[in-house]
Amino acid sequence: MSGSFLNFIVRLVPVGFILLVDICSIFLEIKKEEKMRIRNIYKKPTTLGCNAGSRCCSISAVIWSLLGCLLLLHLYSSIHLKTGEGREFQPHLSHRRRDLYHLPQLRELQQVEEENIQLPPPKGKRSPRAAKRRRRRITPLVDEFLDEDSRMRHVFFPGNKSAIDPMKHAGNDSYYYYPGRIWLDTNGHPIQAHGGGILYDEKSSTYYWYGEYKDGSTYHAHKKGAARVDIIGVGCYSSKDLWTWKYEGIVLAAEEANETHDLHKSNVLERPKVIYNDKTRKYVMWMHIDDTNYTKAAVGIAISDTPDGPFQYLGSQRPHGYESRDMTVFKDEDGVAYLIYSSEENMVLHIGPLTEDYLNVTSVMGRAFVGQRREAPAVFKHQGTYYMITSGCSGWAPNEALAHAAESILGPWETMGNPCVGGNKMFRIATFLSQSTFVLPLPGFPGSFIFMADRWNPADLRDSRYVWLPLIVAGPVDQALDYSFGFPLWSRVSVYWHKKWRLPQGWSTFK
Ligand code: GAL
Repeated sequence: MSGSFLNFIVRLVPVGFILLVDICSIFLEIKKEEKMRIRNIYKKPTTLGCNAGSRCCSISAVIWSLLGCLLLLHLYSSIHLKTGEGREFQPHLSHRRRDLYHLPQLRELQQVEEENIQLPPPKGKRSPRAAKRRRRRITPLVDEFLDEDSRMRHVFFPGNKSAIDPMKHAGNDSYYYYPGRIWLDTNGHPIQAHGGGILYDEKSSTYYWYGEYKDGSTYHAHKKGAARVDIIGVGCYSSKDLWTWKYEGIVLAAEEANETHDLHKSNVLERPKVIYNDKTRKYVMWMHIDDTNYTKAAVGIAISDTPDGPFQYLGSQRPHGYESRDMTVFKDEDGVAYLIYSSEENMVLHIGPLTEDYLNVTSVMGRAFVGQRREAPAVFKHQGTYYMITSGCSGWAPNEALAHAAESILGPWETMGNPCVGGNKMFRIATFLSQSTFVLPLPGFPGSFIFMADRWNPADLRDSRYVWLPLIVAGPVDQALDYSFGFPLWSRVSVYWHKKWRLPQGWSTFK
């Protein structure tokens, strides 16, 4: 018998019991009233006009009892579907989750870690920008985070002293991720791979991390424009252990002279992602290409024979003839790859398969989250189900992440709620002060992934930090879904906050 069926039966037992008790009491009530009726048959009718009286009472008793049952049923299912914020819900675990939870290597990653962030009392004088944000009711934590003079700056952006330096941390200290701290490459320089993604290259058994190389100065092109850094290019790093990263250089560089070129430094190149095409044997990069004001809204494509570049830029397009801003690509198990992009003024997310050579989109396109303004998509798959994490649209400012699931990548997609677990409420509704960019499967532990996100620093974008956290797919969802009538169809997606964590031992031997 499958776990979910057992779960279903277990849920039904108490409800069935309540129903049985109710039916019995209704039956006894009717019997009692029948007796009364026989006894009263020779008496005068009541003024209530309810000779009828006893039948009336029986019918109302039935109606009230049924209503009571429905209420109990509703209460029961809502209590069982609600897990409570940041709490474990072990008694209600599915088999899959129990397996993952009891794997000693993964148990630690699923511990709920509180984070008691104490906000300082509001300062007498705040910048007009902060006041405006307060009026827009951004969470006080995000407000504090965006305040360049915040007394908590060192909490959000810890300094050089606490940098992770894989070349220096040895022994017991190695392999730990510290979300938000500066992370150095093997040359001792802060990693520059923002809005990035990771490719596992089977040929060389090596991971390649590609992202925005933003080591330039931050400025505003216009008073109202978003903070920006001129395009420098796509940074590439390689690693065998996902912790020690060797800088491989800028694999797609900005164009210095030609002002009409997409990659001219005054433009925008964001969220580069690379996938490997087994048929053409090319590494194919897709990226968001825009002008300074984000009005071009296009995708760029580049190819290379090797994962460490150089990539040759092929040009840009508006996929399916639509605007494209935040985007990602996803290569499915059958080799079909998809482009997923925020479109229609960021109101709708589009998903469409690529051509066989991965150099174009086909005419097929699905629309998801219509009117919901979702961006920063990160897609992954587990046991035949597609999952996605998205953020809301608030520029460099963090907001609440949502997890979604679908049986077909083209949709329909269903929203399951905020995946963040731990921290505190303010921290969770700000995705631990970060924004999704990629989800990487962890070999050997099906259902476990690394959630990769950016903690943007709009005051100095080059100093934006990486928030990597364990993501586990398991257990029932904790919010009622649109189509499931109270019984979860999807597994819950959880991103666990940890100040410090490392991958489960032995993970790399599964590759
Ligand atoms: C965000 C987006 C980032 C970047 C930023 C610019 O909404 O996710 O990739 O485009 O806006 O403000």
